[in-house]
Amino acid sequence: MVPTADHFDVVVIGGGPGGYAAALYGASAGLNIALIEKRWIGGTCLNVGCIPAKELLETAHVHRTVTEAASFGINAGEPQVDWSVTQQRKQAVVDELVGGVTTLLKGRKVTVYEGYGRLHAGRTVSVDPSDGSDRFEVTGDAVIIAAGSETRTIPGFDVDGTVVMTSDEVLSMPEIPGTAVVIGGGAIGCEFASMMSDMGSQVTVLEALPKILPGVDKDVTSMVERSFKKRGIEVRTGVTVTGHEPGDGGTVVNVEGADPIKTDVVVVSVGRKPATDDLGLDGTQVQLDERGFVQVDEVCRTGEEGVWAVGDCIATPALAHVGFAEGMVAIDGILGEDARPVDYGKVPWGIYCRPEVAFAGHSEQSAKEAGLDVVASKHRFTANSRAKIIGDQEGLVKVIATKTADGKAGTIVGVHMVGPWVTEQLGQGYLAVNWEATVDEVAAFIQPHPTLSELFGDTVQDMTGRRLH
Ligand code: FAD
Ligand code: NAI
Repeated sequence: MVPTADHFDVVVIGGGPGGYAAALYGASAGLNIALIEKRWIGGTCLNVGCIPAKELLETAHVHRTVTEAASFGINAGEPQVDWSVTQQRKQAVVDELVGGVTTLLKGRKVTVYEGYGRLHAGRTVSVDPSDGSDRFEVTGDAVIIAAGSETRTIPGFDVDGTVVMTSDEVLSMPEIPGTAVVIGGGAIGCEFASMMSDMGSQVTVLEALPKILPGVDKDVTSMVERSFKKRGIEVRTGVTVTGHEPGDGGTVVNVEGADPIKTDVVVVSVGRKPATDDLGLDGTQVQLDERGFVQVDEVCRTGEEGVWAVGDCIATPALAHVGFAEGMVAIDGILGEDARPVDYGKVPWGIYCRPEVAFAGHSEQSAKEAGLDVVASKHRFTANSRAKIIGDQEGLVKVIATKTADGKAGTIVGVHMVGPWVTEQLGQGYLAVNWEATVDEVAAFIQPHPTLSELFGDTVQDMTGRRLH
């Protein structure tokens, strides 16, 4: 007989953003919570995702700043890279943030079990401790599955961690490669292509679809593609890769109907898969869809009474902040409160390549596909004073609004941005879209001068028919 350790208000399986958000938020509401984590608190995001990826992109930014310093009259010479220090700094940032979440969990008296969790009937969760000790069981009035996602690859590209890598390995690679082929031009592919190129690699991006960055407005994507090209990053779209032939120190990637590409490393970034292969689920009504995602309703409830699922293991945008939001929705539901569903079409997205991309709501294309009659306005950073001051004028702001009966711009349904620090500028665009604000309402607000965010104000004002700049 497997011993039952304890009973909790909520048992959470997985300690990534979805799971730890549920635990912290639930504990702050007075719930007694257990969290089971098989490997590392913070999950993908803190350990092999958002945080280390952005930290390395920041290193690339510093490299660029030093390279361009002479134009400001600061002669710093050619930047010399000490990649081991780069790696140490990245790991220190990760470790501090993981430590911070661990401390928060402890402070809120969340019981953390280091081990592998599986759900069984009656909201019983078995735990196989990571230290190899005997399996035990915990039970909960409610259970939240937050098992997250894992890297995936494609046939012909077995991951060996040195020549063929996924994001997991790229983040810890021992040196910057001379040449890199990135398969998949989504968020991960573009961030790594940008980072490696800024650090001196010759990068080729191979994307199967006709354009990179799926879901992003075409004007924004075109600007990223143009910028990549200017910096020597080759982007090939509509490409089929068939495999690779390893040679001395590198490999040759075979591309259907085109010349093979010799490269030091291959980065496979073709999407991720839910980590749901071995979650137990016997004797429960929790269902997986054909791709392995846990099926939930609009407030994250599974088919099993008292069992919720959140984060990358459900088929919603795979973003840390969406995981946070879903964790809180699940807790609100568990508390018997009126849980407000996440409006997935309006969540904020930030992609931290150079130039940065940020958006919320419809692109012009998706608005039209949804049958909306829309008008769009776009303005470039070229004439923005702060962009000139910082020496980074590449980018634009595009606002998409419904068309009123008299042909004017009405409610803002999408804000898409590309350019300097747009991930930090999206806030007011996100609010406008989610508040369903009109162009007239937003245009009445003023922007501080000189700021990059003036461009958002200018773009919205232009849609009223009047303009300043
Ligand atoms: P995860 O973070 O995957 O966490 C799940 C946790 O559950 C893991 O710790 C795992 O060990 C544990 N677990 C799984 N199964 C079990 C089990 N049976 N028992 C016990 N424990 C288990 N998102 C953003 O919003 N912004 C970004 O800038 C961003 N950048 C990214 C960059 C990269 C390279 C990658 C790969 C992802 C990035 N993401 C980003 C996505 C983000 O990391 C994920 O959306 C987020 O981590 C999902 O959180 P989660 O809690 O659902 O899953
Ligand atoms: P993705 O789904 O965003 O992009 C994968 C890309 O690979 C797509 O463009 C797809 O068409 C392409 N592709 C698929 N198979 C291919 C093949 N055989 N050959 C060539 N191209 C192929 O997935 P990605 O970039 O791996 O990221 C996974 C998720 O992680 C993202 O969807 C996002 O939710 C999250 N993420 C978020 C970031 C952010 O918010 N800044 C950064 C990185 C990841």
